[in-house]
Amino acid sequence: MLRLNINGRGHNVDVEPDTPLLWAIRENIGLTGTKYGCGVAQCGACTVHMDGVATRSCALPASAAVGKEIVTIEGLARNGVLHKVQKAWIDHEVPQCGYCQAGMIMAVTELLKSKPKPTDADIDREITNICRCGTFQQVREAIHAAANT
Ligand code: FES
Ligand code: FES
Repeated sequence: MLRLNINGRGHNVDVEPDTPLLWAIRENIGLTGTKYGCGVAQCGACTVHMDGVATRSCALPASAAVGKEIVTIEGLARNGVLHKVQKAWIDHEVPQCGYCQAGMIMAVTELLKSKPKPTDADIDREITNICRCGTFQQVREAIHAAANT
């Protein structure tokens, strides 16, 4: 049994210590916004924040999250108000199938904390999430829009 803090709430989760955090979040806690893509920390679909740092949860043992603050896409809005990145995503109609987008948004929100006005080069370097629908141009436009709000 592990104690995980997800989106400001403590959860007792019955998993092995080496169970990937992604499965604890999805299967045990039931927050399914965080997606499984590659399982080997390459695509970014499973990105969450751990103590404020964008983290690929598919390759992280759940035990590594004990004592940390985990935020998933479900915890990004505050008091019913969407994060400015979520608003920009809607305004710019970024998602196509949507599968990669929760992870993309979690990566972008962290980027804007460290670089409030990222250049295209910053975006290309820092946002390595993979979108099979090819939304990269819309992602870039929405990041700039969010940076300017
Ligand atoms: S599912 Fe975690 S990086 Fe692809
Ligand atoms: S919107 Fe379909 S994979 Fe990115």
